[in-house]
Amino acid sequence: MIWAVTFNPSLDITWHVPDVEKPISYVTRAVHRAGGKGNNVARAIRTLGGTVTAVGPYGGAVGQAIQTLLNRQGIPVLSVDIPDDNRICVALAGTGNAVTEIREQGPMVSVVALERLLVRLVERVSPDDWVTLSGSLPSGLSAEIYFNWVKFLRPKVAGVIVDTAGDNLRAALRANPTAVTPNEEEALALLAENLNGDTYVLVTRGAQGVTLYGQNQAPKMWQAPHVEMVNSVGAGDAFLGGLVYALANGSGWEDAIILAVAAGSASVRHFGIADFDPEDVLRLIAHVTRIQ
Ligand SMILES: Nc1ncnc2c1ncn2[C@@H]1O[C@H](COP(=O)(O)OP(=O)(O)OP(=O)(O)O)[C@@H](O)[C@H]1O
Ligand SMILES: [Mg+2]
Repeated sequence: MIWAVTFNPSLDITWHVPDVEKPISYVTRAVHRAGGKGNNVARAIRTLGGTVTAVGPYGGAVGQAIQTLLNRQGIPVLSVDIPDDNRICVALAGTGNAVTEIREQGPMVSVVALERLLVRLVERVSPDDWVTLSGSLPSGLSAEIYFNWVKFLRPKVAGVIVDTAGDNLRAALRANPTAVTPNEEEALALLAENLNGDTYVLVTRGAQGVTLYGQNQAPKMWQAPHVEMVNSVGAGDAFLGGLVYALANGSGWEDAIILAVAAGSASVRHFGIADFDPEDVLRLIAHVTRIQ
C-alpha cells in the first residue's frame, strides 16, 4: 500500500473560458479535481494501476467534495476532521494554453489535528508500505511538522519520500527520509546543507530529466524523452507517483526512476494537472536515456 499525504488539500477547478475579458463570460468546459500535490500523486498512482490511500485534513462541504472525487477514482481517504472548509483553487484557461491560477490560501489546521492524523497513519502502516509527503503546510504551521512526520514514519515503512521546498524540505532532511524529489529551483535550498549519505536526492530538471545524488556515489543523470509540451504543471507529481508506484511494486531505484521520468514526461502532453495516458508511459520508458 502507498499512502500519499497532502497537508493542504484543495478542490481544483479548471474553467475553460475562451473570452474571459467580456463582462459576462461563459465556461465552455469545467473540470473538478482532487488537488493539492499529494492528491495529484495519488491520482498518478491510480492511473498506473497502483493501490493508494490519500491522507489529509478535511473539512466542510469542500472537504467532502474533494474526498468524493478521490473515492470516485478508487482512492480511499484517511482523514482528520477540521472545522473549516478546505481551499478551492481555480485555473482559468483561455485560448491556447494560457492559464491564470487563482488560489485560496486554505483553512487553519491545528497542530493537534495533524498529530492525530499522524497517529492514525502510524497505527495503520505496514513494513512494506511507502509514504509520500508533498507540498506546502497549512498557514501558520512550522516546518517541524515535516521533521516529525518523517521521523515517526520512517522506521515503520519501506520508504518515505518527500516533495516540498524551503524550510519544509530542510526540516524533512534532518529526519533522514528515504528520498527527496525537489526540482532544480527547490534544490538550491540544499546547497548549504550537509546531506546525509543515506537519503537519495532526486533533482528533477523539467525537459532535461533528473539527476540522482546520494548514497555517497557519483551523480547519475537521465535525459527525459522529447515530448510536445502542453502543460508542465504537475509533472513533478506524476514523476513522484511513477517513482513510488514502481518502488512499491519491488522495482530497484534505477528502474523506478526511468518509469518516473516517463510518467512526468507523459503528463506534460496533457492539459490536466498530473494527468497522463498509462500507455504513453510504457512507450516513453524506452526513450528515457542515461547520460551520466
Ligand atoms: N518539457 C518537458 N519535456 C519532457 N519531460 C518533462 C518536461 N517537463 C517535465 N518533464 C518530466 O517531468 C519530470 C518532473 O518535472 P519538473 O522538474 O518540471 O517537476 P516540478 O517542477 O516539480 O513540477 P510540479 O511541481 O509542477 O509538479 C521531469 O523529470 C521530466 O521527466
Ligand atoms: Mg514539484
